[in-house]
Amino acid sequence: MVKLFETVSFRSLELKNRIVVSPMGMYSAENGEVTPFHLVHYGKFAMGGAGLVIVEQTSVSRLGRITNGDPGLWHDGQIDGMRQVAHVIKANGAAAGIQINHGGRKSGQQRAFRGNGPLTDRDLAMGEEAWTPSGPSALRFADGYAEPIPLSDDGLVGIRDAFVATARRAVLAGFDLVELHMAHGYLLQSFLSPLANVRTDAHGGSRENRMRFPLEVTRAVRAAIPAGMPLFVRISATDWIDGGWEIEDSVVFARALKALGVDLVDCSTGGNLRVGSTNANLARGPGYQVPFADQIRREAGIATGAVGMIRTPDLAERILQDGKADLIFLARQMLYDPFWAHHAAEHFGLTGNFEAWPEQYGWWLAKWGHALRANREDLHGFDPRRGDEER
Ligand SMILES: Cc1cc2nc3c(=O)[nH]c(=O)nc-3n(C[C@H](O)[C@H](O)[C@H](O)COP(=O)(O)O)c2cc1C
Repeated sequence: MVKLFETVSFRSLELKNRIVVSPMGMYSAENGEVTPFHLVHYGKFAMGGAGLVIVEQTSVSRLGRITNGDPGLWHDGQIDGMRQVAHVIKANGAAAGIQINHGGRKSGQQRAFRGNGPLTDRDLAMGEEAWTPSGPSALRFADGYAEPIPLSDDGLVGIRDAFVATARRAVLAGFDLVELHMAHGYLLQSFLSPLANVRTDAHGGSRENRMRFPLEVTRAVRAAIPAGMPLFVRISATDWIDGGWEIEDSVVFARALKALGVDLVDCSTGGNLRVGSTNANLARGPGYQVPFADQIRREAGIATGAVGMIRTPDLAERILQDGKADLIFLARQMLYDPFWAHHAAEHFGLTGNFEAWPEQYGWWLAKWGHALRANREDLHGFDPRRGDEER
């Protein structure tokens, strides 16, 4: 039995396989609104056979955007666009998830494909908007970044409520699942990590205090979405920096998330810095973050997602067979091969005749796939108006 293609259920949502398109910011929204680019971008992953497509980090507030190109659901006018995105995913056979986020002290920077980092005078002259970010403490993410304004109690309530309102809008837009972004140094993770949080109130100091706000947001969002709808949380299982958040902290946090009704912890790492420090302890390689998904699954007793340099169907399958994770998230490999799931099924001999492909493609590929796979010449001269018998 190939586990990658076994169904799996979270609450009332059944996924047709274990393949997830990991959230990937495209920084291509206009004033927080999605565009036709997003429809094609997300629709093709669904057509490509993934069980779940998670839409990129989507901001809960205008000032919570990482970049000027982030999509948002901070007002009702943004629901219609996202409804089309959810629809195009579901109409093409995948479940539709959405990751919701507040960028915290990493808000207000340049789009990744224009180099990340603080906005320059040139960017501003080109119409990009700059703002001062907020965070747990007045600690910059890295040199050159703005010093964040520490959030007041009222500010925290406002952001918690923004997460709730955004999750509700995601439900109205037709999404099947919500993922909270608590990784990569954005607001919620920066509360967890002592590298970013040196508060002396109830939200700083001890681990329990640092977990308080992210858990408060989790509790509020869980209560706001339907009981049958799964809630995932992406974490950075470690900061990879001495003195930062560690895997042992993540196990404790995952237990608390589970107690609040979170269905899966999506185990990423890193993305959170302290001025003058680098991710010194980081060693990348195929499946390098899998041990974190494994440990959290075993020690916190919650389903996990594995992500990070998982490229081949064999590695994905081995992670599942070894019981190290419940879902496999792929990001860059999906950009390269949006039909990865169909190719993986073929690799395992499951759809040698293109049965699982969209029928509009499958019918033709079943006839010509042998030639396409072998890159043979005998497609030349093919005239679809003539009968197949003639070939
Ligand atoms: C273009 C791009 C955008 C990304 N945006 C997000 C995002 O919005 N939210 C998130 O949690 N991770 C984001 N990531 C991280 C990916 O989801 C994933 O965790 C990471 O790329 C490692 O997986 P991979 O080796 O399969 O690419 C992004 C990655 C890429 C390449």
